[in-house]
Amino acid sequence: MHVQVSKTFTFGLLLGILILLTAIYTTALSLGLPARDWLTTTSGVNLVSAFNNSYPEQAPASGQIVEYSLVAQKNHIQLVNDQEIEMWTYNSQLPGPQMRISLGQTLKINFTNNLPQETTIHFHGVRVPNAMDGVPGVTQAPIKPGETFVYTFTPKDAGTYWYHPHVRGSEQLERGLYGALIVEDPQEPKYSQDIVWMLDDLRTGDDGQVYPYFNTPHDVAHDGRWGNVFMVNGQTDFKQAVRAGDRLRLRIINASNARVYQLDFGELDAIGFAVDGLLASETFSAQGFIVAPGNRLDVDIIIPAISRTRPYYVSDMFTDRSNRLVTLNVLDKLGSAEEFLTPTAKNHPDWSQAMSTPPFHDYRLNAQRRGHMQIQWTMDNQAYPNSAPIELEKNKFYKLRFTNESYRLHPMHIHGQFFKVLARNGQPVSEPYWRDTVLIKRQEVVDIGLVPLDNGNWANHCHILEHAESGMMTTIKVI
Ligand code: C2O
Ligand code: CU
Repeated sequence: MHVQVSKTFTFGLLLGILILLTAIYTTALSLGLPARDWLTTTSGVNLVSAFNNSYPEQAPASGQIVEYSLVAQKNHIQLVNDQEIEMWTYNSQLPGPQMRISLGQTLKINFTNNLPQETTIHFHGVRVPNAMDGVPGVTQAPIKPGETFVYTFTPKDAGTYWYHPHVRGSEQLERGLYGALIVEDPQEPKYSQDIVWMLDDLRTGDDGQVYPYFNTPHDVAHDGRWGNVFMVNGQTDFKQAVRAGDRLRLRIINASNARVYQLDFGELDAIGFAVDGLLASETFSAQGFIVAPGNRLDVDIIIPAISRTRPYYVSDMFTDRSNRLVTLNVLDKLGSAEEFLTPTAKNHPDWSQAMSTPPFHDYRLNAQRRGHMQIQWTMDNQAYPNSAPIELEKNKFYKLRFTNESYRLHPMHIHGQFFKVLARNGQPVSEPYWRDTVLIKRQEVVDIGLVPLDNGNWANHCHILEHAESGMMTTIKVI
């Protein structure tokens, strides 16, 4: 009798609780509350499975080795306006040699430093073994004048990448040390022309030479060093020859110290399909795309198959005045545009449900006074190397926030990772692509999501090189 009552009571109690929970859940759903979020995303399980091997953990390896020799040294270079100018180059070329390999091949670079300064090479955007990342004091010792170093790695991802020093970047990149690294995927369609445009703006003095004062208090306190001479592939007034009917794959790389470009393709129909290396999950219009220092953009353009005497132009419209970057002259020959679908990525996560996930870390970007005239740039009120590293675990989802407390631009770049922008100023953003560099505008708050796959200590810094040089850098340790 006693037992019987107790059983009924327990059963009734459980049923009551169940009804109550169901009622709360359905009310939550009908109110449009993010019911699934608090049920499943706190552990991050969903967000990790949504990642779904968007890019691989291991490099595909064919066993083939492609070897390059690079020598950094001073040179005299002829700009198109006939002026001889002293630059620092890789192999006497501006930009440095375009290195092209196929996915699966191993790159081996025998590097010699013949500069009057220490240097290193960083392979921007490439997921390399940490020891090959080229960050002095983090992944290797700086390479002294006269010394050599061998960089070797097998890229894990096809796409448009680039290389540059990671020592005194604001001086060494400005003087001309940068080049493209293209990893081709043999599966991707062949374009009539596969073209790299490396954008750079040089600041010259009255004598026409590279203005020799770097990290001036003015540049550091503002948006870095913006130049007065526009160059594409090391040439002023750059001209690109195309045939009517050509289908172009343009790989645009911003190698400038600090200048941000907003692309204006004029009369051309420009389809974006890869950003910062990896393919996008769907194509998008490249008109008006913002290419901050460090960013890359791959564009698919079909030159109309009609004879034409006027050129096409590609310009920059980021500032009030438009700057012409490239003149495309249409040759009197007919090209043949292959018919194929613009390549897109197969897997790409939908992380819209991460909106309600609190950030794992909020980087506060700001500046402090340092002495009388100078300022230093800070992340969480600390200038590098005093900034504290954060630690992330492999194969987990993380949301990180950048809060720009300053009135300056900060294109933030994280080494060894791809990330997705989730929100700007609390508003959801759904870009169909990964990035390794994102421009944070004045007073803006940007949330990103990532699933780290590569172990090591990875730099996280502003790609306005004058900001990075004066403190705006930290590291992320992936374990
Ligand atoms: Cu292109 Cu650490 O950067
Ligand atoms: Cu900055």
